[in-house]
Parts: sequence; C-alpha cells; structure tokens
Amino acid sequence: MAKTIFKSLPEANLERRRNISFNFNYDEILIPEPLKDFAKGKKYWIHTYGCQANYRDEEIMAGILEKSGFCHANKEEDADLIILNTCAVRENAEQKVYGKIGNLKAYKLANKSAIVAVCGCMVQQAEVINHINHTYHHVDLIFGTHNILDLPTLLNEIITKKIKIVDVKSLPGDIHENLPSVRQSNFKAFVNISYGCDKFCTYCIVPYTRGKERSRKMDDILTECKELKDLGYKEVTLLGQNVNAYGKDLNDGSSFAKLLDEVAKLGIPRVRFLTSHPWDFSSDMIDVIAKHDNIMKYIHLPVQSGSDEILRLMGRRYTSEQYLKLVNEIKTKIPNIALSTDIIVGFPNETYEQFLDTLKIVREVKYWSAFTFIYSPRNNTPAAKIKDNVTPKEKNQRFQELVKTLEEVIGPINDSLVGKTFPVLVDSVSEKNDDMLSGYTEHNKLVHFKGDKSLIGQIVDVKIVDSHMYYLNGELINGQN
Ligand code: SAH
Ligand code: SF4
Ligand code: F3S
Repeated sequence: MAKTIFKSLPEANLERRRNISFNFNYDEILIPEPLKDFAKGKKYWIHTYGCQANYRDEEIMAGILEKSGFCHANKEEDADLIILNTCAVRENAEQKVYGKIGNLKAYKLANKSAIVAVCGCMVQQAEVINHINHTYHHVDLIFGTHNILDLPTLLNEIITKKIKIVDVKSLPGDIHENLPSVRQSNFKAFVNISYGCDKFCTYCIVPYTRGKERSRKMDDILTECKELKDLGYKEVTLLGQNVNAYGKDLNDGSSFAKLLDEVAKLGIPRVRFLTSHPWDFSSDMIDVIAKHDNIMKYIHLPVQSGSDEILRLMGRRYTSEQYLKLVNEIKTKIPNIALSTDIIVGFPNETYEQFLDTLKIVREVKYWSAFTFIYSPRNNTPAAKIKDNVTPKEKNQRFQELVKTLEEVIGPINDSLVGKTFPVLVDSVSEKNDDMLSGYTEHNKLVHFKGDKSLIGQIVDVKIVDSHMYYLNGELINGQN
C-alpha cells in the first residue's frame, strides 16, 4: 500500500486566528510537466456538496485540471480522477460524504490506477482526516479549502512518487486572482467577492473551515463581471458568506453598496447577491438595490431564530426587533421585495416558547421561501459545548410545525402570483418532463412551462397559471415559443 505523507494538518485554534495578513497574487498557476504527460487522455469527475462557495471552487478546480490536460468525464465511471468537494455545515452533510467515499471503494478496486481525492470544508477538521485515513484506505489525496491552488503539485507528487498525501492548511494564504476556471453555465455565473467569515455564530463551522474574511479588490471583481457581461451572461450572483461586510478589511473606502452599484451599472440583465447578514445591512445598500432595475428584488436574509435569548446565544448580534426594523426599512424602500431566510430549530435548550417566537417572526415577515434546519452540533464550536435538554423528538416536532407555518405563509404568496406575468430566466429542461422548461423569476420562484429547449439561457415572459408550495406552473406569452 502506498505510503501517506502528511504535509500539513488543520488545527482548530489556528483556524480561529484572525490577526493574519495576506496579499493579492496575480501570477499564472504553473503545471508540472509530468502531470501534463499523465493527464493526456485522462478524465476527471468532481462531486460538489454544500454551498455556492464550493460550487465556485469546483469551477476553479475544473479550470486547473483542464489546464493540466484532463478532460471532463461524461460519467463518473469513466473518470481517472474523482474529487469529492465536501461540506461540513451539518452532520447529515458529512454522513452523505462518508457514504459516497465508502461507495468509491469498489470503483478504486476496479480501477487501480485511478486517483480518489477528498477536499472542501469537511477535511478542515483533524478528526475527519483521521477517520478517513483509518477507514477508507482507497483515498489517495486529501487537501483543504486553502490549498486548491496546490492541486497540480499534489497530483504531480502522487503520480511520480506513488504516495498518498494529506495537505490541509489551517490558514488562508494570499488571494489568488486570474485562476483558470470552467464555468458550469454559459448564462449565469457566481462571482466571489469575499472569502471566509468573521462572524463566528456560535453554532457555525464556516469561520473555521473557510478562515478569515478577505475581500477581493473591487477592480478585480468588476473586471470579472465585465468579462461575463461581454460573454453574454444574463445573471451574475455576487458571493460571500456575508456580502454586506465586503470591503471593510480593504480600508480603501470599498463597501458592498458601492460595489453593487458599480456591478449594476455594467448592465448585466440580472444581478443577485448571497448571503446578507442582518448585522451589516446598511441603508445605502437598500438604496442601491431600490435604484437599479437589474438588481433582483430578492434578498436572502437569514434570521435563524425569532427569540432574542436564542439569538444572543447564537451570537447573531441583533434582536428580533432590530431584524424587523431592517425588514420594515427594506419593504418601505423596495415595496416589491421578496425576502427569504434560513432558520435553525432546536438550538441547545431552546424552550417551546422561544420556538414560538420563531413562528411569530415567520408570520410577521411573510417570507417568500425559507431553508429550515435542525440544529446540528459542530466540533470545536462554542454551541457544541452546551449541554442540551431538548430531545431529538421535540426538535423534529418543532421542525414539522415550522414547515407547516412556512407553508401557511408561502402558499398565499404563491397563489397571489397566479394570473400575473413575470420575466423568467430559462434554466433547463424540466427534470420531470422533457417538453417542459424550468426557470426562475426575479423573486427566485421556480416556474415550469412548456417551451422549446432553444430558449434555455434567455429571459422570457411567463404567465403564471397555477401555484404549488415549491414551484409555479406557467405559460409562455408574446408568442415566444
Ligand atoms: N453565511 C451564510 C450561510 C451559512 S451556512 C449565512 O450566514 O447566512 C447556511 C445556513 O446553515 C445558516 O444560515 C444556518 O441556518 C445553517 N447552519 C449553519 N450551521 C448550522 C448548524 N450547526 N446546525 C444547523 N444549521 C446550521
Ligand atoms: Fe456561519 Fe454566521 Fe458566518 Fe453565516 S455569518 S457563515 S452562519 S458564522
Ligand atoms: Fe458547507 Fe463549507 Fe459552504 S461548510 S455550507 S461548503 S462554506
């Protein structure tokens, strides 16, 4: 069996560190010659779990691999290199990955020369690396979120020295610009504006797995957005764990309001952004969103809980009253806004009354959609140390009750859209029916309608004919068919 070389291992106390400096690096990424020879005629496959940050990392890894000479495999079984790009945000996300790693054992037995790699947020935890090393001997390479750039040299060492490697750095290095990337869509794109997170919500692992909050320079972001516009992209989503904090670390006057204004001025038909923390949401930002027609009137504004005591224990830095005040300002200045949210039920020792406060805020804000989660303890986070008196059964019941309340709020909103016409960016052929297309409205509502595949990537007018909880049905108008 190949020997494992440990180049670096993650340490939670280092990952917590914030007093680090970094630079911007514009150098071209170099591919070692032996890797180029090896990659000729070989194929790769990447499985991505988790959020848009991982989705974008996949595109960059694909860019690096194609620059090395690999091609994208049409199906997993054809691949010579399989990468699992993992998420650690909740335990069930990790269980899915372990299941998948287990399944790859048979693949590795049948393809002895194939390379299996695991990267992403999960492996930023030392105990996960331990578990993989002890249980899954068919994994050849483990690398972290801060060393995607090292992929060519790591692969090169694996093939030339016939070794296995673990290289997971605790601290982010420089911000690397001009990385190769293969975008998965030719009409909608994600653009990173900042990396990492400094909020340290007490339940959340992201500040450890993704490191210190680092903003890209405004000029670099604008250049990328302009290129996308020139390539004909219809939608750009600006990405950060907390986009509102953008620019604060640059100390050059950059802010999210300014950036958003400049991106909107480029004239891309649809501009979106993800995710907004209620804490840094400025009035300037609201004004910019209101001002530009091409900034979609949709804001994802995670509330997490409606109880002030739980919000305090979560370290969210706002009360339900402050959250509602922000919502009111947004709704007043942007009357046609759609708000969505993230909610966690069953935070340690949450009482039923505190949970009812969450239902109350859901009814009051009237969200257009929501992602709901049962609290999942994450290693090394402060909340995981709290002794919890809420049973899994109670958490499940609260979860069901929350879903029911959300449906009572979302159902009438969806019903109110019937008979109206909305521009829809056509995304794909519908999963259920080949004659049907699927797309999203400005407010991020999924719409299915009959139409020709040639419309994919275009913005068309669709009249809503009936509504369901998680999608709408519509029909094309203006003879666009
Ligand atoms: N940066 C974003 C998203 C972070 S992860 C934000 O702050 O909004 C996405 C969502 O996962 C969070 O909003 C939260 O609702 C949920 N989440 C994070 N950690 C969790 C945990 N330990 N248990 C359950 N849900 C969690
Ligand atoms: Fe996690 Fe909070 Fe940062 Fe979002 S803002 S990534 S929930 S720590
Ligand atoms: Fe998951 Fe990492 Fe994103 S933990 S949610 S993939 S930042």
